[in-house]
Amino acid sequence: MSCGGVSHAYVIFGATGNLATAKLLPALFQLHGMGHLAADVEILGCGRTPFTRDSWRAEVRKLFVDSGVAEDTLLDSFIQRLDYLSGSLKEAVFYEALHSWVRDNGCENNVIFYLSVSPDLYVEVTEGLAAAGLLQEESGWRRMVIEKPFGHDLQSARDLQHSLEAHLKEEQIYRIDHYVGKEAVQNLLVLRFANLILEPLWNRHYIDHVQITHAETVGVDGRASYYDNSGGAMRDMIQSHLLQVLALLAMEPPVSLEAEALRDEKVKVLKSIRPVDLSQLSSQAIRAQYAGYQQEKGVAAGSHTETYTALKLYVDNWRWRGVPFYLRTGKCLKERRSMVAVCFKEAPVQLFQERTAGTHPNWLLIGIQPEDAVRLEISAKIPGLEMRTRQIVMDASVGSPGERKAEAYEELLLDVIQGDRSLFLRYDEVKAAWSVVDPVMQGWANDEQPPLQYPQGSWGPKAAEKIFGETAREWRHTLRCNGEGG
Ligand code: BG6
Repeated sequence: MSCGGVSHAYVIFGATGNLATAKLLPALFQLHGMGHLAADVEILGCGRTPFTRDSWRAEVRKLFVDSGVAEDTLLDSFIQRLDYLSGSLKEAVFYEALHSWVRDNGCENNVIFYLSVSPDLYVEVTEGLAAAGLLQEESGWRRMVIEKPFGHDLQSARDLQHSLEAHLKEEQIYRIDHYVGKEAVQNLLVLRFANLILEPLWNRHYIDHVQITHAETVGVDGRASYYDNSGGAMRDMIQSHLLQVLALLAMEPPVSLEAEALRDEKVKVLKSIRPVDLSQLSSQAIRAQYAGYQQEKGVAAGSHTETYTALKLYVDNWRWRGVPFYLRTGKCLKERRSMVAVCFKEAPVQLFQERTAGTHPNWLLIGIQPEDAVRLEISAKIPGLEMRTRQIVMDASVGSPGERKAEAYEELLLDVIQGDRSLFLRYDEVKAAWSVVDPVMQGWANDEQPPLQYPQGSWGPKAAEKIFGETAREWRHTLRCNGEGG
């Protein structure tokens, strides 16, 4: 899987920020170690902090060593790739200096610009780069990676797109959603489209409902002010990551794995999502805050920003009509766990019901993190003279001992180098996702009731069960069977 040594420069705006130091630089280091970076690839960090090249190199070395990276020749050779340009992204002089750097370092052909900065700078940086002639593809390519959120609602996404397309072609824009780069999320495609066994069952005739969970134990540490103003679980997680998972679970088989083929199918799913019925909002979309959120530094007094959301959606197409998809995410919950739980319908005749406590539908459980696993729960006879049943589990851990799981950013950063946009979001996908969440956000904005509260370390508000209405459904919190312990 070598990239064939494509010469380029990786320019990271916001290089001293948390994303760059915790994810991007370590991912580039891994790519370096695996031989995916051509010998002459340079990595330029840009930021306001006045580092020189040497002090930046020393800083990154220290960060790596502190995080357990060995001080060896591999690290030395990676550090040699690093350079730094300090300045204000708001000033033309910075972009002129960047232009000179690109020219002087002989990487005029291929350049990747990674916007790891606050979203309100996206347009300014693009315009600065364009004015300095840095986005023109005279020979080679110029690519721009944009972190989520792409806008904060449908209208602002349109405005952002409008400003970007004045200077960039769609092929130059890589809208990143790191969740899609996770091994287990990519495995959804393999599970569905490399195994015939699931396909006949993968529809409204056999599936009762689907749950998609992303639970975190951490709060909004260090980014409360940003989260409180522009985030909230709906914008921060559902609009992007969880709707992407839903799209991969619900999409039709693409004609190929080529970017447009994949994205065409995902867009169709997102466009088929039934608009949330605002007259039923409180039973279809639950919002809540963890106890203590209001006291976090940076959170506005009386804030209604939700740190937990549960949302019921329907995909109104031939395959899925009538099957609810329950999405939920929250911070400060009991466990860190992301998973998909697919509940199948019950057998039409319950032959064994009298001899079994309760009914046991089949479940397919797909662990995204921390475990990357696939489990199928089926009923089986309990050994003995009586015909009694219980649930057993067919369990497959996706990785084998000794296999290293690639980090999402490694995959995605390499894809940018290779020009593979299949795991990046197309503009119409982003628009369709905003169309799903915008009405809910509007409904909440018009609601004077504060969000529900839930204790830290719980599974969220009890009232989130309301989303299941009169049914006997309940949330699956773990990959374990009932009675399997824990
Ligand atoms: C980010 C959100 O996109 O994803 C964060 O902004 C969230 O709030 C994070 O914590 C979760 O991703 P991961 O990969 O850390 O589980």
